Formats: sequence, structure tokens, C-alpha cells
Amino acid sequence: MYPKDVVIKEVGPRDGLQNEQTFVPTETKIAWIHQLSDSGLQDIELTSFVHPKWIPALKDAEAVVQGIKKKEGVHYSALVPNVKGLERALTFDVLDGVNVFMSATESHNQKNINKSIAATFPVMKETIMEAKRAGKTVRAYVSTAFFCPHEGRTNPEKVVEISDTLLDYGADEISIGDTIGIASPLQVRETVTRLVERLPKEKLAMHFHDTRGMALANIVTALELGITTFDSACGGLGGCPYAAGASGNVATEDVLYMLDQMGIQTNVSIEKVVYAAQWMEKTLNKKLSSKALDVYTRQ
Ligand code: HMG
Ligand code: MG
Repeated sequence: MYPKDVVIKEVGPRDGLQNEQTFVPTETKIAWIHQLSDSGLQDIELTSFVHPKWIPALKDAEAVVQGIKKKEGVHYSALVPNVKGLERALTFDVLDGVNVFMSATESHNQKNINKSIAATFPVMKETIMEAKRAGKTVRAYVSTAFFCPHEGRTNPEKVVEISDTLLDYGADEISIGDTIGIASPLQVRETVTRLVERLPKEKLAMHFHDTRGMALANIVTALELGITTFDSACGGLGGCPYAAGASGNVATEDVLYMLDQMGIQTNVSIEKVVYAAQWMEKTLNKKLSSKALDVYTRQ
């Protein structure tokens, strides 16, 4: 019923830090990324090339990308909203991939990237095509895929349609976002069932925020439907500043613990991820919310 292997995509350096009020110095971000790549994680989203006024926490994107030492076998990516962001991301020949994003609901799309959904499609198409031309892998996030802070429950058909369009433009993978961490396993079952009926499941990833503590249950549900790629953030950091009520991503170390207990391999060292979480906790000087961090370091 469950797969033998699962890929964990670490979004901590981007999603995890984008909402932090304390600016994490560039050198600290780089050291943390090195700890994460040393843990066995195969895929790390480093930062984002959005407008620095919109996300000041990641205004040092160029310096972060330029400063990292790549580890062989790790895929490094960054978030880009448009061609301007892509051009910035491509300045240094470091990134293996870029990640574009849009929402499944009109109001969140407008608040997050200042455009209607209709006006976003040409931007996505151009950015994806340019990135592919530059030889990069492209993942595309579909945010508010289950629930929107302004519009309520999202129509699963809309999620399928947008995902299908982004794959048509050339995206290699779609990451389905529960942006405000509100989906239940039943809703995940309904939306993911529709997605896998129409789209190749190996091109789908799930991106669960854990605001209400349902992310692990949602991951199990998605696993049962054949999804094998999941996003998470070290220490359970994260949240979208343009989605009211959003809080942290599911913690990487919690996902690792659960998968290990289920006999599913990730080849990631939970001890090293916990160390990285503890290290960031000290840096930010605030308690992070992952259960594994509690168990491994505070008992
Ligand atoms: P805008 O103001 O509509 O942009 O912002 P514009 O195209 O009208 O351009 C205005 C100015 O911004 C111009 O400069 C552009 O050059 C500049 P000027 O000519 O006035 O000097 N500009 C840029 N500068 C730097 N980098 C760029 C860039 N693009 C334009 N890439 C924009 C539109 C998309 C830029 C803005 O709305 C933005 O940056 N939004 C980002 C919001 C964000 O990062 N949200 C969080 C990430 S999404 C998320 O967390 C969800 C996710 O985790 C999945 C989930 O949980 O569901 C992925
Ligand atoms: Mg997110």
C-alpha cells in the first residue's frame, strides 16, 4: 500500500525563513543550508528571487546562491515569480532548478503576486519556457489548493485545471500547496484523487503547512494515493506573509520520523536535520514547534 522510497524536498531556507521577522544574516543562512545538504536531503529550495520589498527576509537571495558550496547529488532550486526573478536567479550558474508559483484562488493570487489568475498564466508560460531553455528543471506551486483565507474552500477542479496548464507549459513537477494548513485527510483524498485521475502522479508533490496539526495525516493520505514527493521545512518553520493565518510547514524531522517508522526510506539522517533545527532555533531565539526536536533534544 505504501511506497518503499519517498523524496523529501526541503523548503526551509525559502518558505521557512521568508516569514521570519528577525533577519537571518546571509552567512548564517549559508551555514544552515550546508548542514541541510549534509543530512542527505536531495533537494533544497535555497531562497526566492521575488521583489525584496515584498519579502525582505530573503533580500540577500543573490548572496546566498553565490555563497553556497554545492554538494554532489543535491538538487538546488529557488523560487521565482516572473522572468525578472528568473534572470536574477540565473546570474550565477549555481541553481539546478527554479520554482514558479501561483494560486488556485483569485484573491490569494492577487494579494501574493499582484495579478489576476488570467494575467498570471502568460507570466508562468514565459518564465517556465525561458527556464527550460536555460536547461533548468521547473517545479510549479499551486497555492491555496484546498482552502483560501478569503474565498473559503477551493474547487478541486480549478486545482486540476491549473496544474494541467502548468504541466503543458513545460513544468516538470507540480507542488500542491495547503498554504494555510487547513486541509483534512478527507479533503486531501478528494483533491488528490481527482489530480491522479488526470495527471501523472510522479509529477505531483504535496506541500502541507501544519497550522492545525493535520499535515502528517494528510501526508499518509497522499501516500495511499500514490504520491511520493513531499515538501517540508527543517524545524517546522514557514508561512506565507500574504496568506492570513498561514504558519509553519510540516517539520522535516517529523516527516522523517514517521516515514522511518512506516519502513519508508528517505536516506536522510534525522539526527542531522534535528541538529540543524536546533541550531536555527538558537539563531532565531524562539522555540520551534517540531515534535522530533522536542523528543531528540528536550527529554
Ligand atoms: P509588482 O509590483 O506587480 O511587479 O509585483 P511589477 O511587475 O509591476 O514591477 C514593479 C517593479 O518591481 C519593477 O521595478 C520591476 O522591475 C520590479 P521598477 O521598474 O518599478 O523599478 N520587479 C522585481 N524586482 C525584483 N525581483 C523580481 C521582480 N519582479 C518585478 N522578481 C511581484 C509582482 C510578483 C514581483 C511581487 O508581487 C512579489 O514579489 N511577490 C512575491 C510574494 C511572495 O514571495 N510570497 C511568498 C511566496 S509564495 C508561498 O509562500 C506559497 C508556497 O510556499 C506554496 C504554498 O504554501 O501554498 C510557494
Ligand atoms: Mg508554503
